[in-house]
Amino acid sequence: MIKLERAYATISKDTLIHNYQAFETLVGQDTLVMSVVKADAYGHGSIEVSKALEQAGCTYFGVACLEEAIELRNAGIKANILIFGRTDLANIKYIHEYNLIQTIISYEYALEIDECGIDIDAHINIDTGMSRLGIYTHEESDIENTILEFRKIAKLDHINIEGIYTHFADADNVDDTFTKKQFKIFNTIVQTLKKDHVCHGICHCANTSATLRFPEMKLSMVRIGIGLYGYPQVKTNIELLPVMSLYAEVEDIHHLKPNDSVSYVRRYYVTENKTIATIAIGYADGYLRGSTNNDYFIYNGHKLEEVGTICMDACMVDATGTNIKIGDYVEVFGENKTVSVIAKHLNTIEYEVLCGIGKRIHRIYK
Ligand SMILES: Cc1ncc(COP(=O)(O)O)c(C=O)c1O
Repeated sequence: MIKLERAYATISKDTLIHNYQAFETLVGQDTLVMSVVKADAYGHGSIEVSKALEQAGCTYFGVACLEEAIELRNAGIKANILIFGRTDLANIKYIHEYNLIQTIISYEYALEIDECGIDIDAHINIDTGMSRLGIYTHEESDIENTILEFRKIAKLDHINIEGIYTHFADADNVDDTFTKKQFKIFNTIVQTLKKDHVCHGICHCANTSATLRFPEMKLSMVRIGIGLYGYPQVKTNIELLPVMSLYAEVEDIHHLKPNDSVSYVRRYYVTENKTIATIAIGYADGYLRGSTNNDYFIYNGHKLEEVGTICMDACMVDATGTNIKIGDYVEVFGENKTVSVIAKHLNTIEYEVLCGIGKRIHRIYK
């Protein structure tokens, strides 16, 4: 077997399952927990993650597109898989063939699917304020029309409505006004359909933040993404732990003198004798140039500052005063430093850093 080169990530299945079970306990028996495993399970590897979660009892997975869903089916996942995005009509036959669930974003889309003459299961997406996908219902005055649209979809022969959902735009915000408004609109639709005996199946709206903040919004299912991977975006007493750690190898070591510069564009100059180590991770691995001169790695309890422009396949760190050697590994994030540090330095969110971890990084499941 080839020895691991360059950089690798470890993914703790035990931690993943611990996080999943924390949500199961939080929402209780009457609410399902959907695991959101789109974008390769936020960079963690959707097949391995879904297999572990299915074994732990998860019965619902959420993905962005058909390819992601088929990948899971081909890997042997038997649970329900909801596709959040629009599937092209040319591919609707695969929704049936692979026993998937399609999101319906409008009556027009539903009609087009119906005209294909292929039976599919579907969840109807109501846009209550995200303005991304779904039937436009931003104000209470839009509700009546949305209910009419829903009823028209319900009459179509080939669409079996299995659920109805909305997605919050601002669930992390301490100001909860907008989330509460979205919820009120969604809940009014759900309750009206119920009263009129129109079957709407599973109703869901809460992502990680809403699930942690608003127990009344859990309904029949919650859709948990970032919380599963250990990075809740809101304060919580529930123990949610990071699942992934990332390590990179020391490729070379240079003893530099004052006035030597480091890397492209010469954005770092040495002012005194320094040991500069080359670390085998770069922007092609998802370690982005934006972290140039603005991040650190961990080595044997030392904080090694990143110095000089991050390259495609490598970057340099100041390892002065350590006994670092070629072939050693440094922690990019893990036990001693979280992804949140990198996200903060990049002025972004943990989601983006995790999803960006490149294909070249070996994922090791423990
Ligand atoms: C439709 C939908 N539901 C749920 C989620 C999960 O959100 P989070 O990762 O914040 O829990 C996402 C992620 O963006 C989503 O697009």
